[in-house]
Amino acid sequence: MSQSSSPAPLRIALAGLGTVGGGVIRLIEANSALIARRAGRPIEITAVSARDRGKKRGVDLSPFAWEDDMVILGERADVDVVVELVGGSDGSALACARTTIEAGKALVTANKAMIAHHGLELAAKAEAAKVALKFEAAVAGGIPVIKGLREGGAANEFERVYGILNGTCNYILSTMEDTGRSFADVLAEAQAKGYAEADPAFDIEGTDAAHKLSILAAIAFGAKIDFASVETQGITRLLAADIAQADSLGYVIRLIGMAEGKGGKMFQRVQPHLVPFDHPLAHVDGATNAVVAEGNYSGRLLFQGAGAGDGPTASAVVADLIDIARGDIGAPFSVPVAELEEMPPADSGHRKGRAYIRFAVADRPGVLAELTAAMRDAGVSIESLIQKGNVDVTDEVLVAMVTHEGPESAVSEALRLLEGSPSLTAAPLVMQILGE
Ligand SMILES: NC(=O)c1ccc[n+]([C@@H]2O[C@H](COP(=O)([O-])OP(=O)(O)OC[C@H]3O[C@@H](n4cnc5c(N)ncnc54)[C@H](OP(=O)(O)O)[C@@H]3O)[C@@H](O)[C@H]2O)c1
Repeated sequence: MSQSSSPAPLRIALAGLGTVGGGVIRLIEANSALIARRAGRPIEITAVSARDRGKKRGVDLSPFAWEDDMVILGERADVDVVVELVGGSDGSALACARTTIEAGKALVTANKAMIAHHGLELAAKAEAAKVALKFEAAVAGGIPVIKGLREGGAANEFERVYGILNGTCNYILSTMEDTGRSFADVLAEAQAKGYAEADPAFDIEGTDAAHKLSILAAIAFGAKIDFASVETQGITRLLAADIAQADSLGYVIRLIGMAEGKGGKMFQRVQPHLVPFDHPLAHVDGATNAVVAEGNYSGRLLFQGAGAGDGPTASAVVADLIDIARGDIGAPFSVPVAELEEMPPADSGHRKGRAYIRFAVADRPGVLAELTAAMRDAGVSIESLIQKGNVDVTDEVLVAMVTHEGPESAVSEALRLLEGSPSLTAAPLVMQILGE
């Protein structure tokens, strides 16, 4: 009588036992039977590493081997895959990723900073070693957007991919919108509630969204990742008045990462945008993320869901592990590194659109005429203009303009003409208006 042998488990090591690491342990424990059925074999944690061995984590670590040095997890004989959940573009996370792949083991990571900076190097190493490198959780947390583009949308050409990629900024913006409170006030509350990091710079200055955008763009366009070329403007300069004026004009403000791949060039920008009330992204509130991809056969695809948090992010990490358990290696960026297109950055000046420009100016006669003359001389046509006293600063007036459709280069030229003008009390703020 032949004996059926059960399939060997996929043995994983976790580097990092914080929010996401803890979530992965809980998910694998709670859903172990269904994961084994779908993956064709069990997924088992064999080893773990973090900084502080004595820390209370609310999960039982006693079944797992402990390594003080996460870098050597991949060298253990009882580990098939290392899951890097530490973070940071360089340092221990990168050393761990390199060692793991060089040891011929697969790597799963949620680390967008590391993939944005070193994704190509790691992908080339993974291809050479014929091991998987997967990073679904690095973009938009629990939303399967990388799989959506790589697999479900694989037959399409994508010219544009854009979305709301940072939950902290979206929470701040939608709370400012609901309450009329200032940016600083809402940020402080978000930090107190744990929605924003103690050092929120990466989020509010747009860097985190830029990391994610560069990864999405590379996958959508089959191009070499180019984080350095992402133009990045965060939300720190937004005033409650901008939100109120946008509202009176029929828009909400959202931090949008926008990537376009056309004519062999790639445009990537993170910037607050005015989003029309009837656009699907206008209804993405709180810490939610959403990505829109426009395929030439699929039409508009909208991916929406929780962009962070232990459960959603663990869901994306474990989906990658299930793929690996099934034997899916795949090219990390959809096509092999050597075949990724070199797409130089496109200059934003070529783009056409409508813009919102907010000036803070001295409260004296002639200033409005000076602003409108600069617009006229640069060829910018003004659709509407709102002028209001700044409640926070006496002797200062806020002038908000919405332009007709025109080249972005004309708006830049108008601002250049106004540079150094004593009438301006602060640098103007420009936000694009999201089209259809
Ligand atoms: N949190 C989210 O919702 C979310 C969503 C998507 C992606 N991500 C990404 O997931 C990764 C992890 O995020 P997280 O929120 O889980 O971070 P976290 O809660 O701060 O946890 C980080 C973990 O890494 C450990 N660690 C730090 N430096 C280490 C080192 N040198 N050696 C070994 N372990 C070290 C920490 O150890 P101790 O616990 O001992 O201090 C901690 O367990 C990051 O790349 C992040 O960008 C997070």
